[in-house]
Amino acid sequence: MKTIKIKQILQTAPTGQTLTVMGWVRTFRNNQFVSLNDGSTIHNLQAVIALNSVEESILKRITTGACLAITGNLQPSPAKGQAVELVATTVEILGDSDAEKFPLQPKKHSLEFLREIAHLRVRTNTFGTVFRIRHAMAFAVHQFFNQKGFFYVHTPIITGSDAEGAGDMFRVTTLDIHNLPKTPEGEIDFKEDFFGRSTNLTVSGQLEGETLAMGLGEIYTFGPTFRAENSNTTRHLAEFWMIEPEMAFYDLQDNMDLAEEFIQYLCKYALENCQDDLDFLDKRAKEEEAAKPQDQRSELGLIERLKFVTENQFQRLSYTESIDILKNSTPNKKKKFQYPVENWGTDLQSEHERFLVEKHFKKPVILYNYPAAIKSFYMRQNEDGKTVAAMDVLFPGIGEIIGGSQREERYDNIMKRVQELNIPMETVWWYLDLRKFGSAPHSGFGLGFERLIQFVTGMTNIRDVIAYPRFPGNAEF
Ligand code: 4AD
Ligand code: MG
Repeated sequence: MKTIKIKQILQTAPTGQTLTVMGWVRTFRNNQFVSLNDGSTIHNLQAVIALNSVEESILKRITTGACLAITGNLQPSPAKGQAVELVATTVEILGDSDAEKFPLQPKKHSLEFLREIAHLRVRTNTFGTVFRIRHAMAFAVHQFFNQKGFFYVHTPIITGSDAEGAGDMFRVTTLDIHNLPKTPEGEIDFKEDFFGRSTNLTVSGQLEGETLAMGLGEIYTFGPTFRAENSNTTRHLAEFWMIEPEMAFYDLQDNMDLAEEFIQYLCKYALENCQDDLDFLDKRAKEEEAAKPQDQRSELGLIERLKFVTENQFQRLSYTESIDILKNSTPNKKKKFQYPVENWGTDLQSEHERFLVEKHFKKPVILYNYPAAIKSFYMRQNEDGKTVAAMDVLFPGIGEIIGGSQREERYDNIMKRVQELNIPMETVWWYLDLRKFGSAPHSGFGLGFERLIQFVTGMTNIRDVIAYPRFPGNAEF
C-alpha cells in the first residue's frame, strides 16, 4: 500500500513517472477530471482519466467524498491552475460515497452546519487547514521550550485539588449515584469512592508543575484541562488544552518577557511554515470581512495581524493604569459598556480588554499587578498590600490569551491566603511544603492553546479550532 503524499507530488518534477496516490474525491468533472485531496496539503491533485481507459462501472462510483487509489503517470499539466497532473492508468475504489447522502457537497457550508457533522468536517478546506496549523503550533510549542532547555512534564488529569480555586470542576467518581454512601453526619462519604477521597478533572497543571520546577528549574506542561463553567461563548470550552511553563528564579518581569517571546515565536513559526494554509485562511477572512458593515471590519488581514505581533512589542501597563484609561474612555462615558467601569477593584470584562487592545493601544497588551481579591491564592503579594504580581496577555479579537503570575514563595504570606479563603489543608499541604523546604522565587503562566489557534487561523468561534468541542449541553462524538 505504499503511496506518495500529494504534498510531495506537487513538489516533484513531472517526468512521466508512475505513482499511486490515495485520497478523497473533492470534485469530479466531465467524467474525466478528478480533484483528489489526501489531507497532506490544502492543494488537490488533478487526476485525468483518459476516455475509455476506466470501466463505466468504476466511473460511476467516482463521487464527491469517495476514497480512491489512483495509479498513473505524472505529467506537466497543460491547464492553468496546476503544474502537474496524474494521467490515470487504473482507478480503484477504496470506499464508495453515496452522492445523494454525503452531507459535504462541493459548495460553501456554514460553520454551524459543519459543527453538526464534526466527524466529516476535516474533509473541507477550512478544517483541513485549521487542523494542520493546530499540529504545527503544537510542534512549535515543544520546539520553543526544548531549544530553551525546558523540560516537558506530565501532570495528573485526575486530582484532589482545585488549582484556580474557582470551583467549576468536573467530579470524577465511581460511586453509585443512585445509592450514595453516607457518613454518620449524612454527607456523601467519599472515603468509599475509588480514590478514597473526592476527586475531579484538573483545571490546571500549575500546582504540580510548580513542584517539578522546584527541582528541574524550568518546565512546561501541555495537556487537557477541564472547566465546568457554564460559559456559552466563542472563547470558552469545557475541555481545552493549555501550555503551562513554570520557572524557578523568574520574577514577574522575566515572566512577561518569556510570554511575549513565546507568542511571537509561535506566530513567526506559523508564518514561516504554514504559508499555503495561511494564504487560504487569509483569503477566507477577507471574504468574511467584506460581508460585514464597514465600521465592524478589522483594519488588518490575518497575515498582517500575525506579522504585526511578531514585529511589535506588546504594550505593558498596570491594572491601575488600565482602570484610569477605561474610566475616562468614550464608551464608558457614553454608557456603551455592558459593565460600566467605576471603581478600582472591579474585574475586567472581555469588552474592556478588547477596548484596550483593539481601540486604545491597537496592539497586544500585557496587564499586570491586579487587585488581590479578583485573583488566585497563589499569586505573589505586592508591597502595596492590595495587588498581586499577576499578568494577563490580551489579544485582538480574543481578549485574554495568557494568564500568569509570579508565585507567592513566602510561607507566612501564602498560609495567610489559604486560611482567608478556607482552602482545605489536605488539598494543599504538599504545595505549601515547597515554601518550607528551599523555597525560591518563581513564576509561570498558562496559554490557552485553542485561543492561540483562533488567533493564528482567524476562526472566530473556539468550537471550530478543536476536533470535538465540549461545551454546555454538548458532548457529541
Ligand atoms: O487564566 P487561567 O485560568 O490561568 C490558569 O489556569 C493558571 N493556572 C495558569 C498558570 O499560571 N499556570 O487560564 C489560562 C489560559 C487563559 O488565559 C485562556 O487562554 C485559557 O487558559 N482558558 C480557556 N480556554 C478555553 N476555554 C476555557 N474555558 C478557558 N479558560 C481559560
Ligand atoms: Mg485568567
